[in-house]
Amino acid sequence: MRVSVVGAGYVGTSSAAVLAACGHDVTCVEQNDTRLQRWRRGDDPLGEPGLAELLVRSKVNFVPDPRSIALADVVIVAVGTPPDDRGRPDITQVDAAAVEIAEYARDDTLVLVRSTVPVGTCDRLQNGPLRRLRVVSNPEFLREGRALHDAFFPDRIVAGGPPEAQGVFEELYRRIIEGRDLPGGARGERVPVLWMSARSAELAKYAANGFLATKLSFVNEIANLAFTVGADASSVLGSMAFDPRIGPQYLHPGLGWGGSCFPKDTRALEAIADGAGYDFVVLRAAIEQNTRQLTRFAAAIELAVPSRGRVGMLGLAFKAGTADVRASPAIALARRLSSRGLTVTAFDPAVSAIADEPDVQVRPTVVDACDGADAVAIATEWPEFATIDLRALRRVTRGDLLFDGRCLISPSSAVAAGFRYRSLVGFGD
Ligand code: UDX
Repeated sequence: MRVSVVGAGYVGTSSAAVLAACGHDVTCVEQNDTRLQRWRRGDDPLGEPGLAELLVRSKVNFVPDPRSIALADVVIVAVGTPPDDRGRPDITQVDAAAVEIAEYARDDTLVLVRSTVPVGTCDRLQNGPLRRLRVVSNPEFLREGRALHDAFFPDRIVAGGPPEAQGVFEELYRRIIEGRDLPGGARGERVPVLWMSARSAELAKYAANGFLATKLSFVNEIANLAFTVGADASSVLGSMAFDPRIGPQYLHPGLGWGGSCFPKDTRALEAIADGAGYDFVVLRAAIEQNTRQLTRFAAAIELAVPSRGRVGMLGLAFKAGTADVRASPAIALARRLSSRGLTVTAFDPAVSAIADEPDVQVRPTVVDACDGADAVAIATEWPEFATIDLRALRRVTRGDLLFDGRCLISPSSAVAAGFRYRSLVGFGD
C-alpha cells in the first residue's frame, strides 16, 4: 500500500520505518527543513537505536510537500501535541494536518491518527474537515530506546473508527499482526487487534500511560516507606513481581518518572477528566507524589551538603538507554540544587552537552563529575552506575555522602567504600 506519514518526529519515523520494512511504499511529509535534511542524510535527530538505518534500508522518502498525500491509500497523522499552560494537549498541528489531508487526499483514503490526542478528536475530525474520508484512532505504545522493537512486536494493536475501515487497517498491519516476515525475526503468534470506538482508542492510550505512572508512584511510596521503617525496598518490591496480577516491570523505585510522555500524558488525562467534570483522585495523587519524590530527594541533599557546596551528579537523561533530557528528573534535580546555591557537575553516558542549561556543568567521565564533590547523587538508572568502583570514587570526592536516587547501589557496598549512603528519603546507615 502507499502510505503518507505527516510528521517526521518520534512516532512518525518509527511508524514509517516499520511499515516500509513490511513492504509498503512510505513517504514522510516533514515541514521542518532542518529535520527533513537530517532524515534525508540518514542522520537521526532522535538518537533512536536502529531507526535511521532502517529508514534508509527501507527507502522511506522524506518530502516537504503535502501534495504527496494525493497518492496515498493511508495517511498517518503523527504530529506533536505538546501541553498548553494548563496541561491540555495543543492539537494545532493535528488540525493543520487535517486541513492538508482534506485538501489532497483521495476519497477512499484511510486516515490513522497516531498522535496522542484528547478524547473526541477523531470524531470531531470525522464529522468536520475529514468527513469525506475514514478516520481511525490508532495510538502507539512505543518506548524511547525500544521504539522499533515495540513497533515490530507490539503486545496489542489498538484502533477505533468506522467498522468498514477495519479491513484496510488490518491489511496495512498484516505482517505485524501475523508476526511474520519481519526484520529481526518472527514473533510466532498473532498480535491481537483490539478494535473499538475512536473515543475508546484515544482514552486507551492515556489509560495505559496513566496506569504505568500511577504504578511507579505507588512503587516509589513503598520504597520510601521501606527505607523509613528499616525494611529492604528491593526485597519488598521484588516479592510483588511474582504476582502475575502485578508483574515484574515498572517496579524499580527512583526519584521519579519523566520523559516526553508520562508527565505530558498524565497532565492531559487529568485535564480531560477535569473537562468532563470528573475528579480523577488517584491520578492527581500519582502526579503529586511524583513531584514530591524529587523535592524530597533534593531536600535531603541540600540539608546534608555544605552551603555553596558541589554535587557530582550521575545521569542527565530522563531514563537509561536514551539521550533525551526532556522532562528529565535529573535535570529538574540539577535546577533545584542550583537554585539553592549548590554547584552541579554531571556525567551521563549518552549526554555529552546540554544547550541552554546553566544549572549543570557536563563532565566527560564519572570521576571528572565527582572530583572534589561534597556529595555524589545518582539521578538516572544507567546500569554502569551500579558497577562503579566506589572505593576509587571515594578517593576523589571531598565529601563522603552518596545519594542513590535510583536504588542502584547496595548500602553495604557504599559504606564499605567509605561513603555514607543516603536513599530516596535521605535515610542511610
Ligand atoms: C512511555 C510508555 O512506556 C510508552 O508505552 C508510551 O508510548 C510513551 O511513554 P517512555 O516515555 O519511553 O515510554 O518511558 P518509559 O520507558 O515508560 O519510562 C518512563 C519513566 O519511568 C522514566 O523516567 C523511567 O526512568 C521511569 N521508570 C520506568 C522508573 O522509574 N522505574 C521503572 O521501573 C520503569
